[in-house]
Amino acid sequence: MRMRNKQRKTTILGWNAGSRCSMPTLIWSLVGFLLLLHFYSTLHKTDKVEETQLQMSHPSFQELQVVEEENIQIPPPRGRRSPRAAKRRPKKKTTLIDEFLDENSPIRHVFFPDRRSAVDPTKDTGNDSSYYFPGRMWLDTEGNPIQAHGGGIMYDPRSRMYYWYGEYKDGPTFIAPKGIARVDIIGVSCYSSKNLWTWRNEGIVLAAEEANETHDLHKSNVLERPKVIYNEKTGKYVMWMHIDDANYTKAAVGVAISDYPTGPFDYVFSKQPHGFESRDMTIFKDDDGMAYLVYSSEDNSELHIGPLTEDYLDVTPVMKKILVGQHREAPALFKHDETYYMITSGCTGWAPNEALAHAAESIMGPWETVGNPCIGGSKMFKLTTFFAQGTFVLPLAGLPASFIFMADRWNPADLRDSRYVWLPLIVGGPADWPLEYNFGFPSWSRVSIYWHRKWRLPSGWSDIKR
Ligand code: GAL
Repeated sequence: MRMRNKQRKTTILGWNAGSRCSMPTLIWSLVGFLLLLHFYSTLHKTDKVEETQLQMSHPSFQELQVVEEENIQIPPPRGRRSPRAAKRRPKKKTTLIDEFLDENSPIRHVFFPDRRSAVDPTKDTGNDSSYYFPGRMWLDTEGNPIQAHGGGIMYDPRSRMYYWYGEYKDGPTFIAPKGIARVDIIGVSCYSSKNLWTWRNEGIVLAAEEANETHDLHKSNVLERPKVIYNEKTGKYVMWMHIDDANYTKAAVGVAISDYPTGPFDYVFSKQPHGFESRDMTIFKDDDGMAYLVYSSEDNSELHIGPLTEDYLDVTPVMKKILVGQHREAPALFKHDETYYMITSGCTGWAPNEALAHAAESIMGPWETVGNPCIGGSKMFKLTTFFAQGTFVLPLAGLPASFIFMADRWNPADLRDSRYVWLPLIVGGPADWPLEYNFGFPSWSRVSIYWHRKWRLPSGWSDIKR
């Protein structure tokens, strides 16, 4: 009797061992419920994808998504050698990337076309008006090549202007003691535009320090990847940047502040955020006004992400390690349909490598890698991010799921002559890499960056009401 009572004792979950609802039934019901939940969320996401694709069927979007192939011929091996030497050791065939990295390559002009083909928005460019030509020189309204490398763009609703901030590198390139090509710090440039094509030089908004050798901004140091956001609460424009010494051992972030988008910015301080090394970095301002810092750390083996303080002038103690062990840098973060995305590069200095897209439901992670976003060109274009490295992803207000992917085609032989590779980035469709633990259902939309020799924003885009 006592025994039976014991068996019928109810568990903490309220499950009665003697009732008809057995443990396997309960487990199967739970599995069924979870599957249903997963189905529902997948369907919901598919609906959104279809909705996006519907809008993307507009001809101007289709133009952006045309897949353009490139067939660049690799020149035969060069150098005069005696026929005997050639027989002994045939010269190794070069790859397209060798050609890209060789400043004396006979196909140099393919990657770095000369000034004659420069994009000059002040001239009558006829049919080429408003077209981006990735890799060509791009002139400002004074006819000078734009100097805004490793940069980012802020839209300022108060002045209804876009501001493009970047590294002003118009100085001689030389080799630092550890062998890295560099240009002394000159400062952070700012260019303004209403249409994202014609850019006016607003000058250097944060200048190098000439005399004080102990200053972070002393010209002998490194200032890279500046990004600016506006703080509604303080009414200040806040700039974050990578601050380093010439050999990249300081590994810090710097902060500067201004009352105006066009500066001048006052330098506030530098630090290692959360007590960690910080090299390539970016900042991201979310819709709710919260801003975040993302930086490569631990010898660039992982990224760290953490919210900024309310005034955007510092980090808070909160930080999450993401993409651990993946060795990614050059982070560029953006948001679409309540999902966060990030494009990163591998770590090969100025040499190009493969971009990857990552996605997360919560900005603090977990982040998952969804694959290489590059489409078109050729296999080598895909493996080298079109011979460039990402720096920023700019949302195109009024155009669904559409962004501009901004990248730098670095020229380590003459860094000032590095080029800009801007291409359309579109979110939509299922991801092309199956993810683990998702029962084979794609969890994220595909992120696609389409190669174009020339392309432009849909006509009338700049008139779209924001
Ligand atoms: C890259 C980095 C650039 C610059 C360069 C120096 O990996 O993304 O911003 O630091 O290295 O070699």
